[in-house]
Amino acid sequence: MTSPVGHNRPVRFGVIGCADIAWRRTLPAMVAEETVGLVAVASRQSVKAERFADRFGCVPVEGYEALLARDDIDAVYVPLPAMLHADWVGRALAAGKHVFAEKPLTTEEHRTRQLVALARARGLVLLENFMFLHHSQHAAVDELVAGGAIGEMRGFSSAFTIPPKPADDIRNSAETGGGALVDIGVYPIRAAMRFLGPDLELGGAVLRIDRERDIAVSGSVQLFRPDDGVTAQLNFGMEHSYRTSYELSGSRGRLSLDRVFTPPESYQPVLRLERQDHREERTLPADDQFRNVVRDFARAVRTGDRLDGLAECSLRNAALVEQVRDHAQRVYV
Ligand SMILES: NC(=O)c1ccc[n+]([C@@H]2O[C@H](COP(=O)([O-])OP(=O)(O)OC[C@H]3O[C@@H](n4cnc5c(N)ncnc54)[C@H](OP(=O)(O)O)[C@@H]3O)[C@@H](O)[C@H]2O)c1
Repeated sequence: MTSPVGHNRPVRFGVIGCADIAWRRTLPAMVAEETVGLVAVASRQSVKAERFADRFGCVPVEGYEALLARDDIDAVYVPLPAMLHADWVGRALAAGKHVFAEKPLTTEEHRTRQLVALARARGLVLLENFMFLHHSQHAAVDELVAGGAIGEMRGFSSAFTIPPKPADDIRNSAETGGGALVDIGVYPIRAAMRFLGPDLELGGAVLRIDRERDIAVSGSVQLFRPDDGVTAQLNFGMEHSYRTSYELSGSRGRLSLDRVFTPPESYQPVLRLERQDHREERTLPADDQFRNVVRDFARAVRTGDRLDGLAECSLRNAALVEQVRDHAQRVYV
């Protein structure tokens, strides 16, 4: 196992998979963040690893196993297609590396449970990258809700929809990206847990399944809080116009935000507050959620924080995804 990381030296990262998200967002954030150092990037093809290594100033590695075998790496970033996460996250933990994994950590509760247990047993940090949770805009919403701005909580709604991707995109394959529920639907589910608490239960769900590709292309999920019946109405899909939003409704008013899952670091969110006799817009400060999540992961590695609360939410999210898959009404198109 790699030697423990002290409080003072940067966490040394390796990456497995030359993913688009790594190129556009995560690796630029890692390079900018002084508490981490990017050591190596691995690809199944050396030419891809070299392109990434040239841009980000690190070592190209051919093959993921070769990267995991390096002893100059403390932590591994896993931006592979969703259906491959469980296997490679498990291998990285078994190799003694802390793991920063793209969402969804896995698509089955028992696999997530195994990985969380393995990380705990080995004293390693395991974090699922729901980077939106690390943006400061949600704390502004919390503050208003706690101050009574919308009265008592009655309901939450959220949508994440994107336009169709090219035919060869991972999301269009059941074996790799796994379709809209596991790649996109997990965001509004996680957002509902963020605002209503993790103990939500499934009320009902509809999945629109593309018969030819055998994947969900869109869907709708209703969750509810068993103790008081507060509901969450969630929509997702990859055959739409682009939308990422949420709204909290209360007994006296509503709060809503757009671009909640993927705001660029320069974007200033606009929070809308509406009541019977009042309508207001507040511009919130821009924030860099990719840099924040990388910094939060590094802090956990350096301080020995196991991020138990987030791990519990990863487990609950996987359980809800599994329930949706098992119980949704399916419409084949
Ligand atoms: N947190 C976020 O904001 C965010 C945003 C977008 C996506 N994501 C997540 O990030 C992950 C990657 O998404 P992406 O859009 O960046 O995907 P992508 O560009 O297709 O990259 C996936 C990488 O996985 C590797 N890979 C290994 N086996 C593969 C296989 N059988 N088929 C295809 N690729 C394979 C490839 O790297 P090599 O060829 O180099 O080996 C490929 O470049 C997904 O889990 C997605 O949900 C997260």
